[in-house]
Formats: sequence, C-alpha cells, structure tokens
Amino acid sequence: MGASPPRVADVVNADATLIGRKAWSDPGLYELEKKGIFGKSWLFLAHETQIPNPGDFVQAYMCETPIIVARGRDGGIHANVNSCVHRGLPVCRADHGNAKSFVCPYHSWSYSVEGKLQSIPQERHVEGRTDKSKLSLKAVPRVETWHGMIFGSFDPEIEPLEQYLGDQRWYLDAFFERFENGIEFVGSPQRWVLNANWKLPMENQLGDVNHGPFLHAAVIPPEANAEVFDHGYSCVAQPGHGATFRLMPEDAPLESVAWGFEGMASLLSPEIHEYLRELQMKAEERVGPIRARMKGLTYGVYPNLSFLWSNTAFKVSHPRGPGKVEYWSWSVVPSDAPEEYKRILRGNHTAFFGPGGLLEQEDSEAWTQQYLGSAIDFADDRPYFYGLGVGEEKPHPDLPGLVSVTANEFYARNFYLRWRDALMAVEEG
Ligand code: FES
Ligand SMILES: [Fe+2]
Repeated sequence: MGASPPRVADVVNADATLIGRKAWSDPGLYELEKKGIFGKSWLFLAHETQIPNPGDFVQAYMCETPIIVARGRDGGIHANVNSCVHRGLPVCRADHGNAKSFVCPYHSWSYSVEGKLQSIPQERHVEGRTDKSKLSLKAVPRVETWHGMIFGSFDPEIEPLEQYLGDQRWYLDAFFERFENGIEFVGSPQRWVLNANWKLPMENQLGDVNHGPFLHAAVIPPEANAEVFDHGYSCVAQPGHGATFRLMPEDAPLESVAWGFEGMASLLSPEIHEYLRELQMKAEERVGPIRARMKGLTYGVYPNLSFLWSNTAFKVSHPRGPGKVEYWSWSVVPSDAPEEYKRILRGNHTAFFGPGGLLEQEDSEAWTQQYLGSAIDFADDRPYFYGLGVGEEKPHPDLPGLVSVTANEFYARNFYLRWRDALMAVEEG
C-alpha cells in the first residue's frame, strides 16, 4: 500500500499563491487528476486536415488512454479507444494512415473504421452466435470540433466545446481567423518523453514570459525581450486557459507585427518574407484592428493543449504518470501556403520547438529540473511561491477577461485554482 495522497487544500492554498511540491510528484494526486481533470475535460485529439478522406485515421491519447481518430465512411469523425473488446490488444498499430477496417493481431477480430465489430473468425467453429452490436470499440462519448480542431471528452455531460473555450476563442481566433483558408497541421506530430510532470510545460505556455530573458538569454535577443516588457500582456479569459502576447503600437512596422517574422525569419527567403507581409496586410480586415496588432507569444487551453504563435507549434502534454510526460508537437501553417513554404516553415518550427529545438531544449531542462525539485524529500514546508502581482489583474476595454503585465503570475494561479477545484470535487466524492 502506498501512502495516501495529501489533502488537495493543503497542497494549493486558497488563492494559489503557495503550491506544495507534491502537486507535481504525488502518485495519489495523479490518480485524482485522471478522474477529476482528464475524465472531465475537453481534450485535444487531432485536426480535421489530418484526416480529410473516409478511412483516414490518426492516433491520439486522452491522458494515458490510446485513441483512434478516424474519418468514417459517412464523412463523420469517430473517436474510439484503441483496445480490442476481446482481450484488450490495440487493434491499430500504425500512427496514421487509411484503413478499410482495423484487424486485431491476436485473434483477428475486425472492426470498421467507425469502431463497430464486424467479424469474429472463431465464430464459425461454435454453435452460438454473438451479438456483435454490443461489442464495438469503446467510443469516446463526446466529440466536437471548433475551427477544425477535434476534441473529445469522456464526460457525457460536459458543456459544449464552444462554451468550454469561452472567451479564450477571441484570442485563439486572432490566429485561426487570420488566414483566409484556415490552417493545416503538417505531417505527423513530433513526439518525445521527458522526466517531468505534465503540468510543467502547460504552466510555462499559459503565460510564463518571465523566464525568457534568463533561460533563453543566449537565443532571444535583448530587444525582443524589451518589446515583450513594453507591449506584453497576459490574459485569462477563463480560469485554466491563458493567453500572452504583445499588442504592438499602431505605427509598428509591418515586419514587427506579422506572423512568421520571428525565430529564424532572417534565414527565410525574400519570397517568404513577401508572403508573410501580404498575410499581415489582410490581417485587419480578417480579425479587426486590435487583433491585427497582436503578436502572439503563447496560449494554453485547459488542461493540456498549448500553442506557440512564433514558429507555430501546437503541443499536447500527455501524462505518463506523475513523473513523465509524452510531449507531442505539430507544425501548423496556413493551408493555402505554397507547398515549398509549408516545408520551410515546418523546418523553422522544428529548429525552435522540435525535440532538439533551440528553445525547446532549454525549456525541457528547466521542466525536468523543476520536477526533480518537486520530488525531493524534507522540503514540503517550502511550497513554491506563486504570488507575484496578486490582485493586479484588471478588465481592459479591448481585451476579454482579466489582463495584466506579463510578470503577474495570475495565469498560473488561475490554472492551479481550477486544478484544486477539480481534485477537491473527486476527494469529496
Ligand atoms: S484480443 Fe483482439 S481478437 Fe483477441
Ligand atoms: Fe521557454
């Protein structure tokens, strides 16, 4: 028998200014997270551009549960747990592809791409007939899409996805609506495992701008950091989600606002620069005057989806126990960009936020070290301090939610208060 988990109220104090180390390392709290968070939230699965044709499928995860996301023959999207109802083997081994059916490798039961059991080869040797209609793969009870983003939830009663995203959509739309023909997830996600808790990358991307000038001092030029402090905002439209960005002045030069002109932009060709400028010239008409001047940093959607605007990376932090996270990162580009530009922009994404990316490596080191710090003994009386800027967040005439300078840690306090509520609800049964 392991020790029972600490009480959640003792781990996160009432205003989340103090958070005990066990929040990131206790196996019992991790079990509460599975029930209270991953069993109750909308979880990102895939983007529709990854499965355009009937029979197309990709693998995904909802926490540690493997999921097949497929385009059915009816054109609809189906999400099923990738586990045979006979003895539990995965019925699909490929990461992505196109299939007429999924055939289990153990005894060859076969399932339609929609998840219905079609045949049991052994049945012809027995007299009885099995009611196959009761033996489908376990379907994810709720699947909804927004801007082509496919989410699933294990909670049949969960609020509609749009409501769940709430005003966070206003911030996300600054990117999603910017491109006339939408966005495309290019290729397969890059995937890697870190010795860290799943919340650490998430917390970083909800709004931790504060580490930029220090952890990334060798990569991010001082003038970029100055711009963040002069024009940067952190916003929380709904607790648990977060957005941080720069609102550039009206007379800012086009290149300093345009999407794509960050990271390795100086290495991109003059043709791509021109393409990015043209996109920015249409931005105001597409997203309005305020959002056209938004230059995104990072966003987070509770509980484990994040998005880095520069070098556009969409990332999911898949838990693998309290001390391991399997991180997935997709490159995202405008869907009508020339193929050659898509390829180059994907390289730009990988150089910064792939598993060996210039910034990713530094962040990964910080998260693994923070995990180690969270797992040490004899230091439980030194919870981490999350109190910078308490109460300084305010409404803003042009920006939904509460808004503050980026040094205010309210984005993290809001995330951990939502975490606290979710886990206490499980504790109370
Ligand atoms: S375990 Fe899948 S057919 Fe037996
Ligand atoms: Fe970072």
